[in-house]
Amino acid sequence: MAKKKIAVLTGGGDAPGLNAVIYTLTKTCILKYGYELIGYKFGYRGLYKNDFMPLTLENTTGILHRGGSILYSSNKDNLFDYKVIENGVAVKKDVSDVAVQNLKDEGVDCLAILGGDGTLTSARDFYKIGVNVIGIPKTIDNDLKSTDVTFGFNTAVNIVTEALGRLHTTAESHHRIIVVEVMGRNAGWIALHGGIAGSADIILIPEIPYTIDNIVQKIKERDKRGKLFTIIVVSEGAVEVGGTVTVNKVVNDSPDPIRLGGIAHKISYQLEQLIGEEHEIRPVVLGHTQRGGETSPYDRILSARYGSHAAKLIHEEKYGRMVCLKNGNIDSVLLEDVVGSQKRIDTQTDELVQVARDLGVSFGDKQVHRKQKYK
Ligand code: F6P
Repeated sequence: MAKKKIAVLTGGGDAPGLNAVIYTLTKTCILKYGYELIGYKFGYRGLYKNDFMPLTLENTTGILHRGGSILYSSNKDNLFDYKVIENGVAVKKDVSDVAVQNLKDEGVDCLAILGGDGTLTSARDFYKIGVNVIGIPKTIDNDLKSTDVTFGFNTAVNIVTEALGRLHTTAESHHRIIVVEVMGRNAGWIALHGGIAGSADIILIPEIPYTIDNIVQKIKERDKRGKLFTIIVVSEGAVEVGGTVTVNKVVNDSPDPIRLGGIAHKISYQLEQLIGEEHEIRPVVLGHTQRGGETSPYDRILSARYGSHAAKLIHEEKYGRMVCLKNGNIDSVLLEDVVGSQKRIDTQTDELVQVARDLGVSFGDKQVHRKQKYK
């Protein structure tokens, strides 16, 4: 059989584990299957501009633990709707044919695409026009359907947990209310998992609209018990009952142009008006620290499993699929069944929502299910 040539690209926001997948995929493809690899730089932009580098055992060594992507990334470039300048004017065009030609010219047999919903939607679209693709699920938000978990999520939860531990000491020492904003787009996975692990008192997620009055009520309950500090974890996509998301900026040339942000400041201001006499309130935005630094051991292992399975799928020529984790086992699904809608928390069935309520965490909604009060 002829030696295959595999191309790799990383699209969307960076997430811890990208390098671990690149490392495992490269090693497995070269050492087990004898393939050759290249990596396109800055995601789909590199594919369009034919900007790539070889991926070898030498230039991928020692990257398993490192965050970021040695191939760089971009969360702007959709080649099916790409901004180009024609006669001095910016226009949006489908330039996927240029990408397909670049792949043909390089003799690429399969394109391995590491990304979240936006990146994998393009992967599905490239598959539809005849490119052999394999998807690998990345995002700290964990909002991709058809997989138990995406790589990057665990590291982000660890970072949130550690930050909450640090913030507790200040909150407790100064009797403060600290409102901690975490990422996650329109899904509350990071807030829910990080909030429980970091002992937050109030967790606000997009899936459960909150009211400021319910937040104040929880703070007052704590005051009565002598707990004069409160840690609130708020997902960037959380919404007040009847309200809309808090938008930080609009990035027009991005497939998903809305950048959420600012809700911690908004809630802090509202609380200041209501209980500012009794409490000092501080917003803290964890922002991109949640995607930075070293990859957690869990994400290193998950990424290695994904990379190794992706190489197997390439070898078996099972294209148009995304590697995934199903009930803890490595598997794959059709890309077609993954893209297009987000995986959000089902607040009726998710066990951790119930666990949080059992712990007395408030979601800023009305539901209180304690039969007995603290003495
Ligand atoms: O999807 C990952 C993510 O970090 C989201 O949690 C966040 O809303 C968004 O990307 C931030 O994007 P940017 O890096 O463009 O600010």
